[in-house]
Amino acid sequence: MVHEMQKSAGADILLDQAEGLRRMRVQKAVKVIAVASGKGGVGKTNIAANLAIALAQKGAKPLLFDADLGLGNIDILLGLSPRYNLSHVISGEKSIQDVLVTGPRGIRILPAASGIARMAVLDSQAQASLIHAVSQLDIEVDYLLIDLAAGIAGDVLTFSRAAQDVIVIVSNEPASITDAYALIKVLSRDHGVKRFRVLPNMVRDQHEGQLLFQRVAAVADRYLDVTLDLVGTVPMDMALRSAVRSQRAIVELYPDSPAACAIRELASTVRSWPLPSGSAGHMTFFMERLLSAERAQQNL
Ligand SMILES: Nc1ncnc2c1ncn2[C@@H]1O[C@H](COP(=O)(O)OP(=O)(O)OP(=O)(O)O)[C@@H](O)[C@H]1O
Ligand SMILES: [Mg+2]
Repeated sequence: MVHEMQKSAGADILLDQAEGLRRMRVQKAVKVIAVASGKGGVGKTNIAANLAIALAQKGAKPLLFDADLGLGNIDILLGLSPRYNLSHVISGEKSIQDVLVTGPRGIRILPAASGIARMAVLDSQAQASLIHAVSQLDIEVDYLLIDLAAGIAGDVLTFSRAAQDVIVIVSNEPASITDAYALIKVLSRDHGVKRFRVLPNMVRDQHEGQLLFQRVAAVADRYLDVTLDLVGTVPMDMALRSAVRSQRAIVELYPDSPAACAIRELASTVRSWPLPSGSAGHMTFFMERLLSAERAQQNL
């Protein structure tokens, strides 16, 4: 990678571009799903990680992207210790292949915490090298799950805007509901995101999940131009806490627990969503959309 990036002769650049285009053509469609919440601590990381593993259990090839700025912790949750992250790709020290780690069921994880912190200040050369690096990604990926930070900071909005689907996790407490609403409001009003998949987490039962969804949907319908779908519900489950303590995924450690069953159902629902067609579904396209969302965010 570093060697390739340092080449400057015109012929080499042309060869690089041809190689990049060839790889882009063989890339399959990728469904990009951002997992957001507004309020922190409502279960984004647990659901993103377990959803990825549940998708892999169903034969998919997910890539889990830790896009939580300061507090990225997928690695801790799954008991992994990555040595590098996306910042090493941007600086040219490592290839994207070197940075990926493999988790349960062969899911791929891209540890990105400090890399994303620098994304806002990437110059055009660094942006080009990032797009190039992603186009060199030589693994089969059909789902890209993005575990976001809490809140409505710039990078959360950028990723949500660039994703094809946004899952908003909400728990049954006032701050979670108002923060989820605030996130939906700013994404729809300022970033053109019009459809949201709402996932109540830590609820007593499906009924409580439905009521929670209706509370969010009622306000959103009244004041915003958005479509909200209830995408499932995940119950409060002590088995999940026990899995967290063991640094294992609940869908692996306690596959029959209520939360694991709910997450597998969520995975089946996600599998039923159509994959994007044509080049718009390629990872490279997503990266370009991400970077243009980043630029738009800076101009707001
Ligand atoms: N369904 C559940 N049942 C029981 N506890 C849960 C459930 N979901 C989440 N939790 C608890 O909430 C904690 C926080 O979960 P998680 O780290 O996934 O949240 P987060 O939204 O990613 O947080 P942050 O905003 O800090 O990134 C977990 O460690 C666990 O204790
Ligand atoms: Mg988290």
